Amino acid sequence: MSTPHINANTDDFSDTVVMPGDPLRAKYISEHYLTRAKLVTNVRNMLGYTGLYKGKKISVMSSGMGIPSCSIYATELIKFYGVKKIVRVGSCGAVSDKIKVRDLILAHSVSTDSKVNEIRLNGYQFSLSSDFELMNKLFIQAKNHKLDLKVGNVFTTDSFYSLDNDLINLLRKYNFLAVEMETAGLLGIAQEYDIQAAAIYTVSDHIISNEAMSSDERERSFDEMIRLTLDALI
Ligand code: ADE
Repeated sequence: MSTPHINANTDDFSDTVVMPGDPLRAKYISEHYLTRAKLVTNVRNMLGYTGLYKGKKISVMSSGMGIPSCSIYATELIKFYGVKKIVRVGSCGAVSDKIKVRDLILAHSVSTDSKVNEIRLNGYQFSLSSDFELMNKLFIQAKNHKLDLKVGNVFTTDSFYSLDNDLINLLRKYNFLAVEMETAGLLGIAQEYDIQAAAIYTVSDHIISNEAMSSDERERSFDEMIRLTLDALI
């Protein structure tokens, strides 16, 4: 079987998927953390892998950037491949003074400038939150790994380059932690199909101070996030 965007066979995916935005991150996770990993899909180079983590079947599927791309892959994984748990492992830009570059953030709840979920709910505001059980497991694993995981509100935006200053100030006023571009899509779909989803990020840049991680640092903190996520999923 294949779908318009995934050319895997029916049983190729685990019911549990780790979802980075970047296809090369998916490759990195499969090569560094999974045993017996196999590439299961490569349409448009949006790479997906399945292998074993500490004996449990886990898949890693890239989402691409932005709500539309992430939504396509999440929907097809759920509808056609029986996926029941998705954890987005991404990067984000901090807006809060309490958050530093390299911090790890767990999205408790998400707001967005996208209309996608309002359209779903006939114009009413859609409240988006990570799945409680997944959040709990991620939080416990962060403690086990001695990592200081910050938990709070995150904002999903459709515009990376033209984020309005007034909006950034509002996000700061209301104590949002960070901005990213996919989670509101993923959590809306999780609600629609009644599956578990959550999102965890490494802070790659700070929108107020303009500080950004070097590529070396990005890799190291990405590793911490991946280890804790995989341990939370087994
Ligand atoms: N992801 C990582 N950094 C970001 C930023 N500054 N804005 C939106 N998404 C991001």
